[in-house]
Amino acid sequence: MVQNNRESDGEPRVYGYSRRASAVLTHFICVGFSVFIALLSRPGSSLFSWHPFFMTLAFSFFMTEAILLFSPHGSPNKGFPHKAKGRVHWILQGLCVSCAALGLAAISYNKHLNGKAHFASWHGLLGLLTVCVVALQSLAAVPLIYHSLAKGWSLAKLKRYHAASGLVTYLLGSVSLLLGLCSAWFTASIGGYAWYLSALCPAVSALVVMNQVSSAYMAKKRLQS
Ligand code: HEM
Repeated sequence: MVQNNRESDGEPRVYGYSRRASAVLTHFICVGFSVFIALLSRPGSSLFSWHPFFMTLAFSFFMTEAILLFSPHGSPNKGFPHKAKGRVHWILQGLCVSCAALGLAAISYNKHLNGKAHFASWHGLLGLLTVCVVALQSLAAVPLIYHSLAKGWSLAKLKRYHAASGLVTYLLGSVSLLLGLCSAWFTASIGGYAWYLSALCPAVSALVVMNQVSSAYMAKKRLQS
């Protein structure tokens, strides 16, 4: 018999509620953080302003939403068939890569105009690596749509590698965002508790995404064994 405070699979209900709460919180965080950076940078006010704006849109908004889409707990399109989710996922990822390329172009051209050295900070170096990795990750995902491109690889194996490398890419994006928050530009206007609160946004999103991807992987392993 199913007890009142338990889900039918024997897991206490409180786990289900907390998973849903953390997924919903992450939606709010990724939207709130992107709006906050947009208000702070005022895109269009200078060439530089486009950099934090596009990068936050790419990695905090589009990439987070592209992954949360598959969350069994907090996705608004839970009832959609998996194929439709896959399509929305690659559209969001396409937007992520486009925004990342625009953000990189804005900062590179701005540095060029001001005669400043390129990729001279940890943020700049890791940021460049992140943009290259996200572009590669998207290219490597093409065989998931056109399976004939990856002969000898099962779809299940391709999906497993895609999820694992996607998680690494997401973590790279989160660390680049965090390093961006350590930049002189950001710390000149945001300090104290507000800085810590801002830094919590990419950190909490990364933890939730990490938990989602690893639980999905563990669930598949349990089914296979
Ligand atoms: C995942 C997101 C981000 C990536 C991939 C990224 C990438 C980069 C790259 C590659 C550069 C160096 C460009 C060059 O040297 O030509 C750079 C510079 C810069 N970024 Fe970001 N960025 C991101 C987010 C942010 C955010 C959110 C902020 C501000 C809050 C920010 C602030 C800056 C500043 C001030 C510079 C110039 C100083 C420096 O080179 O360190 N970035 N970024």
